[in-house]
Amino acid sequence: MKDTIFQKVQTPANFEFNQSVADVFDDMLDRSVPFYQQVQKQLCELAALYAKPGTNIYDLGSSLGSTCFRLSDHLQNPEVRIVGIDNSESMVKKAHSRLSERNARNVSFRCADMTEVEFENASVVIVSLTLQFLRPAKRVRMLEKIYEALNPGGALLLFEKVICPDSSLNQIFIKNYYHFKEANGYSQTEIAEKRKALENVLIPYSYEENCELVSNAGFSIFECFFRWYNFMCLLAIKK
Ligand SMILES: C[S@@+](CC[C@H](N)C(=O)[O-])C[C@H]1O[C@@H](n2cnc3c(N)ncnc32)[C@H](O)[C@@H]1O
Repeated sequence: MKDTIFQKVQTPANFEFNQSVADVFDDMLDRSVPFYQQVQKQLCELAALYAKPGTNIYDLGSSLGSTCFRLSDHLQNPEVRIVGIDNSESMVKKAHSRLSERNARNVSFRCADMTEVEFENASVVIVSLTLQFLRPAKRVRMLEKIYEALNPGGALLLFEKVICPDSSLNQIFIKNYYHFKEANGYSQTEIAEKRKALENVLIPYSYEENCELVSNAGFSIFECFFRWYNFMCLLAIKK
């Protein structure tokens, strides 16, 4: 279903992952996230490298389950449990309905706030476009929890929208991002309305702040494996 949520000028309301968003979410991701499919492919390739039999792979902020399903198709080893966690009931309900139509027996979904979940025995944790929705004060503890849950040799895969510390570069990157959205059929009104709705909801860190967060949580090995203007991916390994 096509994303037309912000076609009309609205009174600013905070963006929510509600039923209307869940209904158009595949289209929204494809048209709003640069190289979304390519990054999903890279996340799955890397997750498959670090996945170990008898362990859990967590996808935090799993939305409709696209990453979990793709990963389940990609993994050779069925003895890895893929657990998607999301606190939006609309998203998880739809993910469950998709699960019932597929043969993905190693995938499960749970509706919960990721800051309140106990993680264990993880070989991989994926956090794709989700940490940015946590209040900054909660991000440090979240990263520490992920580090604690990972087994030695385990991997964190982090995909985030970022800001540039330099305001002129930031403007250029954001302008190019809006051009990308326009090229994908979003009008200037839709782009402006969504920006307003996300203002206090999606709080991006800079690339450097994300590196610091990951490093302070205990990860000593980490590397950027994707960057496009104001989007980046990090792979971090627990020694
Ligand atoms: C942009 S979407 C993630 C997209 C998905 N990971 C992907 O790459 O296709 C962000 C998701 O995070 C979820 N979310 C936000 N805060 C959360 C929290 N505290 N705990 C669990 N899920 C959360 C939202 O409900 C939403 O489905």
